Amino acid sequence: MDKKIATLQHKIQQANLGGGQARIDSQHKKGKLTARERIHFLMDEGSFEEIGMFVTHRSTDFGMEREKYLGDGVVTGYGTINGRLTYVFSQDFTVFGGSLSETHAEKICKLMDMAMKNGAPLIGLNDSGGARIQEGVVSLGGYADIFYKNVQASGLIPQLSAIMGPCAGGAVYSPAITDFILMVENTSYMFVTGPNVVKTVTHEEVTSEELGGATTHATKSGVTHFACANEIEAINHVKKLLSYMPQNCEEIPSQLAYEIGDESRLSLNTFMPQNASQPYDIREIITEVADAESFLEVHKDFAENIVVGFARLAGRSIGIVANQPAYLAGVLDSNSSTKAARFVRFCDCFNIPLLVFEDVPGFLPGTDQEWNGIITNGAKLLYAFSEATVPRITVITRKAYGGAYDVMNSKHIGADMNYAWPSAEIAVMGAKGAAEIIFKKEITSAEHAEEKWLEKEKLYSDIFANPYRAAERGFIDEVIEPSQTRTKLIKAFKMLENKVVNNPRKKHGNIPL
Ligand code: HXC
Repeated sequence: MDKKIATLQHKIQQANLGGGQARIDSQHKKGKLTARERIHFLMDEGSFEEIGMFVTHRSTDFGMEREKYLGDGVVTGYGTINGRLTYVFSQDFTVFGGSLSETHAEKICKLMDMAMKNGAPLIGLNDSGGARIQEGVVSLGGYADIFYKNVQASGLIPQLSAIMGPCAGGAVYSPAITDFILMVENTSYMFVTGPNVVKTVTHEEVTSEELGGATTHATKSGVTHFACANEIEAINHVKKLLSYMPQNCEEIPSQLAYEIGDESRLSLNTFMPQNASQPYDIREIITEVADAESFLEVHKDFAENIVVGFARLAGRSIGIVANQPAYLAGVLDSNSSTKAARFVRFCDCFNIPLLVFEDVPGFLPGTDQEWNGIITNGAKLLYAFSEATVPRITVITRKAYGGAYDVMNSKHIGADMNYAWPSAEIAVMGAKGAAEIIFKKEITSAEHAEEKWLEKEKLYSDIFANPYRAAERGFIDEVIEPSQTRTKLIKAFKMLENKVVNNPRKKHGNIPL
């Protein structure tokens, strides 16, 4: 028996070495951790249980039968993160560059099945040269099997992808289907076709980093939700993100203990600038209203005219969507609509109540927006809010103009509670533009036209640049002192905690993708 146990121990030792010490050293030299080191930092100490440690590939072409590594380039298993069951796969770049073989894919699929059956999150730590070139179509089939399961798991369990190295070709589509992507600056990249192909096809000269590095995807494409300075930061972000989420779509996020006291925030009564055109940073309101240190911004550097992220309110997990007056006056455009829509969908999948702060002058005009589909993209946000059945509350801090008023979680599309600050202006358009249209005939030919314009602008503003017209109709449930915002929200979310809404039965809707 001792000999048999020694054989087992030898195999475990071999598996732990992946592609061997030289390749581990080379990984470290690139400033990267190994697949197992990443798992070590991610999971609670001693909690990780590996599955499929001795799996090897079945390939025989190109003499591959002579080169086999236990585990075949991916470490898979389960454990806990902050005490909660979590499944993880971690691609091992030291084995054939972490490339995906038939068996590598089978290991990931097996794990995905377990995560779905047992209702727990799945984390993918990606570091791979793509399809195992020696295996051809078998490897492509493996990718497709993973994509298919990603879709089955979507909305059932949270799926998070941390990109820790290369992720190229069709491989990018698995992370893209998952709920959140995190990338590491300078050591990870994602692209469908790399710089060489780009040069051949479009004659553009571009580096991997410029084409698909973390900064590029965090700012230009919005593909990644987080650009992290290093791997440890990425791993810590994964843990923090998970803390706002439930295990699966049947559960609600766990609530932290919180004792309600005086929740008023007096500074908010003097927060709003006197001049309605003056920008302010909506994050200041968010951090004042949310529990201390609880706000985790998602997609921070992309479409900055809208802010989205997780926070807690009296210990309860919430998702926040907020127009950002400090950037493009908080206007809605294609990118901000898509960004917010995807976030709303995630929160609704996983029973995370939604809080909206609204200060929006409307949709961004221009050929660029129209030709890039602001109609379809704006409709995504409208659709996402309209279909969301989680508790939904809106606070209009200042402007709520035009179609954007409807879209930003208005009462009409199913919001549960709609509050407005006294500084709110709820109207079809700004007073100047409105006066110019309504009184055009009356004033253009009149004497003292300039004075008259100002008079009419004031008239329109007096009638509509306030929250009371909307409150008279019941579109606003209550006009509140800003200092009372947190108190009102805590009570209202508590009141809504057992909300049940059943949308009409159907196969699925047809969101304007
Ligand atoms: C088999 C691979 C591999 C792959 C890398 N390796 N990629 N083996 N299949 N796809 C092996 C290398 O042979 C090498 O083996 C080891 O991994 C490390 O690779 P290096 O090139 O030395 O590392 P580095 O210089 O860091 O470059 C990493 C890389 C490069 C940029 C990822 O290896 C590369 O370009 N690989 C090929 C990428 C690719 O074209 N993949 C197919 C994409 S198409 P040794 O023995 O020396 O350690 C695709 C389609 C998916 O993925 C479609 C899904 C629908």
